[in-house]
Amino acid sequence: MTTVFRPGDAYPVMLGDLAQTFPDWLAQRRASGILLLTDTNTRRHCLPLFLKATGLSADTPVVEIPAGESRKNVATCISLWEHMLQARLDRHALVINLGGGVIGDMGGFCAATWKRGVDFVQVPTTLLSMTDAAIGGKLGIDFQQVKNTIGVFQNPAAVFVDPAFLKTLPERELRSGFAEVIKHALIGAPELWNMVRDYTPERLSMASSETWLEILRLSIAVKVRVVTEDPHEKGIRMLLNYGHTIGHALESYFLETDDPLTHGEAIAIGMLTESWIQHTRLGKDVPDEWIRLMLRIFPHNPIASSIVPEIWHTMQQDKKNKAGSVRMALPGKNAFDMEVLEPTEREVEESLGFYNGLKKV
Ligand code: GLY
Repeated sequence: MTTVFRPGDAYPVMLGDLAQTFPDWLAQRRASGILLLTDTNTRRHCLPLFLKATGLSADTPVVEIPAGESRKNVATCISLWEHMLQARLDRHALVINLGGGVIGDMGGFCAATWKRGVDFVQVPTTLLSMTDAAIGGKLGIDFQQVKNTIGVFQNPAAVFVDPAFLKTLPERELRSGFAEVIKHALIGAPELWNMVRDYTPERLSMASSETWLEILRLSIAVKVRVVTEDPHEKGIRMLLNYGHTIGHALESYFLETDDPLTHGEAIAIGMLTESWIQHTRLGKDVPDEWIRLMLRIFPHNPIASSIVPEIWHTMQQDKKNKAGSVRMALPGKNAFDMEVLEPTEREVEESLGFYNGLKKV
């Protein structure tokens, strides 16, 4: 069965079997040409599945870029635009982004800027992009080690979410995406929280297609509600950045090392540390069951206090900031309540100290 969401009534997000959704949609679209964007991983593991499910010709032009966040930069965009030029893509063409957040963000950005905008669809292949990145029209690339600094808001023509691709994911990548599911549960979906609160890595790996459809239905509903209400992040959409103020800074820092954190690993630390600052200010503790779930799903990566100045420096580039102060958005008492806090560098250091000590509690 297909569930269809319509963020802001602007475009369909179709959750279900690609074979039931994509071919009819494409037939109605009558694109003048198609360019299929993949990375090294999705070309190998997801493209055969995609072509089989959609019936698209194996002759469809495919562009492959190297996988990884470190490639989400202007140099890769230039190579993509060159491919668009070679393929003579006109304004009635369609770009299909088959991949995770990097492919969706960068392929969407290149499509949105090509001849002032050519249509694109997002076909997310990771849990992270299915539940978050592919929905909501945020497109962009990293710049000077700061994530998503250059970009635009531009909605896709459609999003096709098929959990069949989750079977192609390495376990670490699946866990990474689960951080965004947990985030959606904590900011706006108590029913989803009840479903996932006891999860273990084993249950994640063994979840059936039906389970994924249910988790994704509840999680995508949170994303769709928020981006419908605030498409351009003037208010409540900041709540989707819960865990990302400290988390993005950690992710950017470790991206430059031999041992990068996945997005979800960084965001999990971000959710715990940001919540610690919020709860400490109120004289409260972070709920034990939040801590237990995060520590079950994600490895414990102690953060050296010596890197705090660099983390703090990166946090100062965060897009939520206003008038020079660092801002972070946190869940409030009820679903979809938002609290915006301005942390100090000292609080960030102390919150990382709290995180570092967690194994002992
Ligand atoms: N991933 C956060 C947002 O879409 O706003």
